[in-house]
Amino acid sequence: MKTYLVTGGAGFIGSNYILRLLESSESMKIINLDALTYAGNLENLQSIEQDSRYQFIHGNICDGTLLENIFSQNKIDYIINFAAESHVDRSIAEPRIFLDTNVGGAFQLLNAAKQAWEEPGGKFRTGVKFLQISTDEVYGSLGETGLFTEATPLDPHSPYSAAKASADLFVKAYVDTYGFPANITRCSNNYGPWQFPEKLIPLVINNAMNGRNIPVYGDGKNVRDWLHVSDHCRAIQTVLTQAKPSEVYNIGGNNERRNIEIINLILDAVQRRGYEKSTSRLITYVTDRKGHDRRYGIDPTKIKTDLGWEPQVSFVEGIKDTVDWYLDHMDWMKKVTDGSYMTYYQQMYGNR
Ligand code: NAD
Ligand code: DAU
Repeated sequence: MKTYLVTGGAGFIGSNYILRLLESSESMKIINLDALTYAGNLENLQSIEQDSRYQFIHGNICDGTLLENIFSQNKIDYIINFAAESHVDRSIAEPRIFLDTNVGGAFQLLNAAKQAWEEPGGKFRTGVKFLQISTDEVYGSLGETGLFTEATPLDPHSPYSAAKASADLFVKAYVDTYGFPANITRCSNNYGPWQFPEKLIPLVINNAMNGRNIPVYGDGKNVRDWLHVSDHCRAIQTVLTQAKPSEVYNIGGNNERRNIEIINLILDAVQRRGYEKSTSRLITYVTDRKGHDRRYGIDPTKIKTDLGWEPQVSFVEGIKDTVDWYLDHMDWMKKVTDGSYMTYYQQMYGNR
């Protein structure tokens, strides 16, 4: 039986990952360590909170003492580090917390795992693995052609991507210096349920259904490579359980789209659900994001060839289901955006 330490499991991808893991009837233990920032939401996990295989710990990955306690009280086999500040615009406005969590927190976690897993003589316990959930943004920006491969040099531009790249380098250093058993995955943009509506897709759905303007940065022609979160979660599990330690894997589904194309698709889908104000009249071009990366595109050949992973959700189907999901979860959307959810959990868990 494996014991998982999932950090950031109350966020968008982490909660999808935990929900998916617990769909199986396998025996396992999952510890979800999450600081419950504005982006962490335990409501995402309500359906499994009574599952005896699941435990939530409210805490910060920067807290070395807490990590030591978790490791001394549990025989952790797998660590999946989702915990991060994840929004580029916030990193441009307030970069410091991105250094603290994305670099400092990842470092604390690596250190705690090394201490717990290293045996006398410097070898590591067999069967353990640290998976750093990184991003394609560490590679910087592409021109009109070409794709990011695992050999593309790191060239981050925003404070967010610089912090994620720094964490990747610490993981690499632990692998190269100590033989620490880790993998890094670098995925493209995710979409699907439970994403905080500051990110493009849920933000557009939220504004479209409420008849509010949709801010389009710059000329709207920046390109992102979209993957359904369930395909990302399957890829993570594949790398965790099958990949040779030290390997880096890019994850993507060859699905590049201009932002304006995505926005128009969503406006149509929301209108088809009866929201008459959801029209192109809401599109509002605004000042561009500072240092805005022009194009991301992932080459997923390595994960497909080495590990046999393939995406399963087509974009047309995935985006329709995603629009439907948000329109059917308007209460959730309202609570996370108006702050009432935060107040509720701050009362329950205090303010960390
Ligand atoms: P998110 O912002 O939705 O969730 C982040 C979670 O981490 C939240 O639950 C938050 O409470 C928690 N957290 C933040 N700081 C913490 C701390 N110091 N200690 C403990 N918990 C903390 O993020 P997401 O979109 O789910 O992204 C998860 C990971 O995947 C991130 O590392 C991100 O860089 C990476 N990633 C995201 C995407 C994407 O499209 N969203 C794509 C590729 C990679
Ligand atoms: O590529 C993976 C990354 O994808 C992850 O590492 C990040 O955590 C995640 O936030 C995401 O980063 P992006 O910056 O690509 O995502 P975002 O949803 O913020 O923006 C997507 C594109 O849409 C980008 O070109 C900026 C543009 N945009 C975004 C918002 C929020 C707009 O035009 N208007 C908006 O209001």
